[in-house]
Amino acid sequence: MQKQIAVLPGDGIGEEVMLQALRVLTEVGYKFGHEFSTTKALIGGAAYDSYGVHFPNKTKEICAKNDAILFGSVGGPNSERHLEKWKSCEVNALLGIRKAFSFAANFRPAKIYPALLNSSPLKNSIIEKGVDVLIVRELLGDLYFGDKWQKGEKPNRQAFDACLYSEAQIATVTHAAFAAARKRRHKLTLVDKANILHTSKLWREVVQELAKEYSDVELDCLFVDNCAMQLVLNPSQFDVIVTGNMFGDIISDLAAVLPGSLGLLCSSSINADGFALYEPPGGSAPDIAGKNLANPIGQILCVAMMLRHSFSLLNEANAIEAAVESTLNAGFRTGDIFTEGMRRVGTAEMGDEILSRI
Ligand code: IPM
Ligand code: MN
Repeated sequence: MQKQIAVLPGDGIGEEVMLQALRVLTEVGYKFGHEFSTTKALIGGAAYDSYGVHFPNKTKEICAKNDAILFGSVGGPNSERHLEKWKSCEVNALLGIRKAFSFAANFRPAKIYPALLNSSPLKNSIIEKGVDVLIVRELLGDLYFGDKWQKGEKPNRQAFDACLYSEAQIATVTHAAFAAARKRRHKLTLVDKANILHTSKLWREVVQELAKEYSDVELDCLFVDNCAMQLVLNPSQFDVIVTGNMFGDIISDLAAVLPGSLGLLCSSSINADGFALYEPPGGSAPDIAGKNLANPIGQILCVAMMLRHSFSLLNEANAIEAAVESTLNAGFRTGDIFTEGMRRVGTAEMGDEILSRI
């Protein structure tokens, strides 16, 4: 198979974790007889330096010409946030690319690896039954993309953000979530605030109507405040969660801490044509950038996710995931997941270990 991939390392640790992910991609191509070609493009602060914007047209053009996008991370250090280079960098880059390619559905899996039980912030007694949750977040609606304004003078300033959802928007992600649940443990939880919000009431109506087409999947509805509690008290109860953009942003970060480090996570954002972007949602971590400290696993798992979902290369994806798991089982740990008695390694060495197990 021949595939072309747009590679957008971005800022902070993006470049160094991407390097390890691309080594893994090349190895898989070599072992399984595929030709993966990559084209690099700038995004975030890195793009601002050359183009004066965080998501240049040139980058958009490169992405459009490729079969998938492998994304690193964007954003600068807190101490430099006032500079034009970093001001609104994440919003411009991330919301820009989501909108440009109509990435309506965002998949954020979070699972606890048996080898990393002790890295989770939750007690062993809570997670002993296993945790493997997939959050499907709507990505183009809600408070993020509604009308917004701020007006008035002190002390009478006012601000406004509108939350709008159409039936079609809800149906798109709901179908994606039911389809995902079918490939997993056949359980879907709708997370909303239907006791208060009209948009949530519409979500409930639409999701419950569509559930009739997926009678093999058990549907359950939960208010978002209760969901936050349940994710901490009993995360094993969840299989797939579907929710709107704002609630999805919050509960996906909550779920993301359960595995023990943001550096372990991957995510995908997909449009109606199946075109997708793969991104570790952990952020650019500028404090550790360039020090060979970052965990490359999230970015490497993005490659597995891409091979599975964009190119239907299931064995290849499984090979990467198995290599990650066996590297963890062998005791190799970057600093973020290090515990007593394990073998501490840097970004590149973690890449070596995973590579050698493919
Ligand atoms: C995320 C991020 C973004 C979001 C921000 C940086 C715009 O938090 O990908 O979850 O809120 O969607
Ligand atoms: Mn977020």
